[in-house]
Amino acid sequence: MKIKSANFLVSNSDYRKCPDDKKPEFAFIGRSNVGKSSLINALTERKSLAKVSGKPGKTQLINHFEINDSWYLVDLPGYGWAKVSKTSRSEFGKIITGYLVRRETLVTTFILIDIRLEPQKIDREFIQWMGENEIPFVILFTKADKLTRNKVNQNMARWAQVLAESWEELPDMLPTSAVSKQGREEVLDFIDRCIEV
Ligand code: GTP
Ligand code: MG
Repeated sequence: MKIKSANFLVSNSDYRKCPDDKKPEFAFIGRSNVGKSSLINALTERKSLAKVSGKPGKTQLINHFEINDSWYLVDLPGYGWAKVSKTSRSEFGKIITGYLVRRETLVTTFILIDIRLEPQKIDREFIQWMGENEIPFVILFTKADKLTRNKVNQNMARWAQVLAESWEELPDMLPTSAVSKQGREEVLDFIDRCIEV
């Protein structure tokens, strides 16, 4: 798929205020600093469409980016950011869960996981929660450029093993990198297939 246009549209703290033009949308979720905003920039080939930062907690709202005037990419705040107070952590939680559970035009959510790490409890719990709420998702492993191809495969196999403990059928999983653009075509093709029908 060719990206002809990519524009930031609006930021919201409440799913009820998000665009109501019924265009299909795809959201990016995952721990703070995992690379959600960077991947959105890589997919759209726009350097600073979504704000990126070395410090966790950069994205704090639901951000809609309109692509090719016909669908949305949605950048969400990260979960598991230790340096904020408990109150604002649960505020973030409410923004995210409200959006994920209630947003009717949400087609698929991309759950981003840092490929370098051993499977983390917080990600496993989040994936479990998505399953319980029957919210469709695909797992994207990020920062694949930081490991050898062998190590990437090894770590993905480890995740498959962990997920097989609670899932009968494994979700789709793809290695990606905002730096090398690995996975870009695959993710865009996936979106293309979803919006075609
Ligand atoms: P929050 O908005 O805080 O939740 O973070 P985020 O998930 O949007 O992460 P962001 O895209 O801001 O990236 C965090 C850091 O990781 C930045 O320093 C990025 O440059 C770096 N980064 C993101 N993706 C990649 C990648 O694919 N490869 C490498 N090497 N670094 C990456
Ligand atoms: Mg971000």
